[in-house]
Amino acid sequence: VVGRTRINPISSNRFRSVMITTAHRLRQLPSRRKAVASDDDHLILPDQDFSQQAHIPSFQKYQEMYKRSIQDPAGFWSQMASHFYWKKKWGQQVYSQNLDITKGNINIEWFKGGITNICYNCLDRNIESGNGEKIAIHWEGNEPGFDDSLTYNQLLERVCQLANCLKENGVKKGDSVIIYLPMLMELPISMLACARIGAVHSVVFAGFSAESLEQRIIDCKPKIVITCNAVKRGTKVINLKDIVDSALSGSSQNGIHVGVCLTYANESAMKREVTKWQKERDIWWQDAVPKYSTKCDVEWVDGEDPLFLLYTSGSTGKPKGVLHTTGGYMIYTAATFKYAFDYKPSDIYWCTADCGWITGHSYVSYGPLLNGATVVVYEGVPNYPDPGRCWDIVDKYKVTIFYTAPTLVRSLMRDGNEHVTRYSRKSLRVLGSVGEPINPTAWRWFFNVVGDARCPISDTWWQTETGGFMITPLPGAWPQKPGSATFPFFGVQPVIVDEKGKEMEGECSGYLCVKNSWPGAFRTLFGDHERYETTYFSAFPGYYFSGDGCRRDKDGYHWLTGRVDDVINVSGHRIGTAEVESALVSHPKCAEAAVVGVEHEVKGQCIYAFVTPVKGVTYSEDLKKSLVLSVRTNIGAFAAPDKIHWAPGLPKTRSGKIMRRILRKIASRQLDELGDTSTLADPSVVDQLIALADS
Ligand code: PRX
Repeated sequence: VVGRTRINPISSNRFRSVMITTAHRLRQLPSRRKAVASDDDHLILPDQDFSQQAHIPSFQKYQEMYKRSIQDPAGFWSQMASHFYWKKKWGQQVYSQNLDITKGNINIEWFKGGITNICYNCLDRNIESGNGEKIAIHWEGNEPGFDDSLTYNQLLERVCQLANCLKENGVKKGDSVIIYLPMLMELPISMLACARIGAVHSVVFAGFSAESLEQRIIDCKPKIVITCNAVKRGTKVINLKDIVDSALSGSSQNGIHVGVCLTYANESAMKREVTKWQKERDIWWQDAVPKYSTKCDVEWVDGEDPLFLLYTSGSTGKPKGVLHTTGGYMIYTAATFKYAFDYKPSDIYWCTADCGWITGHSYVSYGPLLNGATVVVYEGVPNYPDPGRCWDIVDKYKVTIFYTAPTLVRSLMRDGNEHVTRYSRKSLRVLGSVGEPINPTAWRWFFNVVGDARCPISDTWWQTETGGFMITPLPGAWPQKPGSATFPFFGVQPVIVDEKGKEMEGECSGYLCVKNSWPGAFRTLFGDHERYETTYFSAFPGYYFSGDGCRRDKDGYHWLTGRVDDVINVSGHRIGTAEVESALVSHPKCAEAAVVGVEHEVKGQCIYAFVTPVKGVTYSEDLKKSLVLSVRTNIGAFAAPDKIHWAPGLPKTRSGKIMRRILRKIASRQLDELGDTSTLADPSVVDQLIALADS
């Protein structure tokens, strides 16, 4: 079944060049966050009552299913897919793949020829099976007391109205639609409406700046942009419409004219009357959408038709448009959600992620809704009006599965146990973590204080590119180790390779790759298949390379050690150092910039920027502020550097390459670990930088 006919083997010259490019980007495996021996030995056994009721009650059951998923992927995933509605079944070949760049172009396909629709499977299918009156979404507003909910029937009606409105405004199958919305119910509604009519949504996190939004508009040329006038996060009001106006005018100047800007009036944040308006382009959601019929025929699509684009940061260049297709993503997000959270129909599920990131796609919207779950969607920030807000929400909706990021765990841990323990939290039964390695201390606090030592934690390792969980505990099935993502999900074959790409067995530490495809894998980078192949498949031919380092302990548990490329993970947000550097050098007084990640108590990592000013410019606090502002306006506030380090010069090799290794050591003040600096073109630069470290 596997092994598709090779197409266009790439030339050996190109192969060599992609190998070289990628090899240069890799850096030494970080030793930070390496678990100490005692963590390896610390087993937390599953609770017997929990295991007995779990979908996967034992390691043995997991092993049986895992073995089958690897030996017979076609049979295994066909069975998973059979729980969903297919208007026409896929062809004889369940999947085809080539992950080996030395043998031809990279190609992954699952369920090709199958005809389906993910919106139909999320909504209509669940309604037909008798769940129409079940709550699909509980929405909790920024202000306590502001809430709303939609049943599956109501959600379908809202989705259909919007889908009809989009169609009327010219959106057709295959067109892209940019969604720039905060966590209102209208965000999942917009995603589902696009999916219903076969349009390709591209959600842009509403914390991105106008420049970032403009860049994405220019890249994917949407027919429509969906937004709202403003949002309130905590006490802060953010005028999103102004940001969209600026992005749309910028994209127009670049020849990309978006005809329609559908704007939801979020009156709790800002009145309609004060919103700037362009009559010929802007439409108020509330004026337009409710007029349409609550019924909308489904556009049936191929399993391999695109579902969405999501831009993410890489170690070089502009953000990449990660493309996911319909069938494989649908089956994979549904199955991972069910097993990794031990989901049951009586659960109430809350994931704190924003739909602007992959976690919000796969595990706020699609995965849970495909399972007919009740999902809590929260508009605000976790510590507003006080650090107990999360547990207030948990008690209010009787949340049973709570999925969040280590950065939030650490910040709540810092705020003190009393904000947690004054709430009951007795509804909770499974906890989840995602976005960065969770350090054992935070893990234990999450387990003991939030979960009262009762709830297993699913520490899910995955990526925008993987679509769904790759390495994750299955609650109740095996003992946990605080800080370890444990074992691979069904159908996933993680391998740890050394610098030469050689697979290592047993206890080892190296680069995390994946052998063979899985249904949720991304298929390409939008408009740039070559970059897809170069970035992910050339460093270690034959494998998908994740960009992460990983250690496997003596019991076979996986411990993620962080990125090994120039990607920084700030509060679980993925940021490319190159993007921040380019934002800094766009400042007229910045001649050169080099950015590194430094460990941060709450954020995991923070951004540390070395900046060389243009000749004649002197150091000032105002200039530092304006440099930070440059990053905020070019990318977004979440990417703002924590530290600007004045750098009269940067440590470079004689060939002009910046030695980031040295900068990392200076930034983290590990000055006795600078290593050999004699190969630098000007070794005295290092002393200058050290002298300026605390200025
Ligand atoms: O470094 C890994 C880290 O987040 C990266 C992926 O980021 P992104 O595509 O934005 O997706 C985040 C949500 C899936 C990975 O390369 N990462 C994610 N989950 C974990 C993690 N690192 C350690 N443990 C995790 N559970």
